[in-house]
Amino acid sequence: MTARFITLEGGEGVGKSTSLAQIADFLSERGIAHVVTREPGGTELGESVRALLLDDGARSLDPLAELLLVFAARAQHLAQVIRPALSAGSWVICDRFTDATYAYQGGGRELGEAAVAVLERLVQGDLRPDLTLVLDLDPEAGLARIRDRSLDRFEREQQAFFVRVRAVYRQRALAEPDRCRLIDASASPRRVGAEILDQMRALVEADGR
Ligand SMILES: Nc1ncnc2c1ncn2[C@@H]1O[C@H](COP(=O)(O)OP(=O)(O)OP(=O)(O)O)[C@@H](O)[C@H]1O
Ligand SMILES: [Mg+2]
Repeated sequence: MTARFITLEGGEGVGKSTSLAQIADFLSERGIAHVVTREPGGTELGESVRALLLDDGARSLDPLAELLLVFAARAQHLAQVIRPALSAGSWVICDRFTDATYAYQGGGRELGEAAVAVLERLVQGDLRPDLTLVLDLDPEAGLARIRDRSLDRFEREQQAFFVRVRAVYRQRALAEPDRCRLIDASASPRRVGAEILDQMRALVEADGR
């Protein structure tokens, strides 16, 4: 059985964490070993970088410095968590990964696709997720869902930033149909959950489970 690397992507409040919990339950029910993790984060270094990036005090952080911090955290995450888990036969479910970098730093911060691609190649080599679920939702609707939380540095961005983020996510999902599934996250939690589980069943059945 092949260990699979699954990533969840999309803007603020689209339902990534909700979907991740459903995927973890699905795998647990089938007795499939899995690791649940997130980016930025997943390691001690990664969580420190996350705190740095999300802290509203970091308003003057240079976009390129932000990009390099994201990939520094990713290098550590790959070395310490993701590659060892996959090598040991464990599935890895990650809340955001490199598509988020294309969307937020490449699109939102307007650093462009090429800058992200260079670092992706350097840090990941050939490693890409096996399946990426891109939850697509109007940014205003997503932000409304998390209205009651205190907003982090990204969530305080302007509307135009979120529009660019969404556009890159959609482009990437459509450009890589073998890896990505574009999911309408405006549907009810029940419908979104059913679609996520359909995708999981297809993946597990492809493995003859
Ligand atoms: N399909 C849905 N329809 C309406 N509300 C939803 C749906 N899915 C999740 N929610 C609710 O929206 C809120 C945000 O969901 P969730 O935390 O899963 O999103 P997220 O993408 O992880 O957000 P963040 O970007 O902040 O990490 C939660 O209160 C959740 O219960
Ligand atoms: Mg979340």
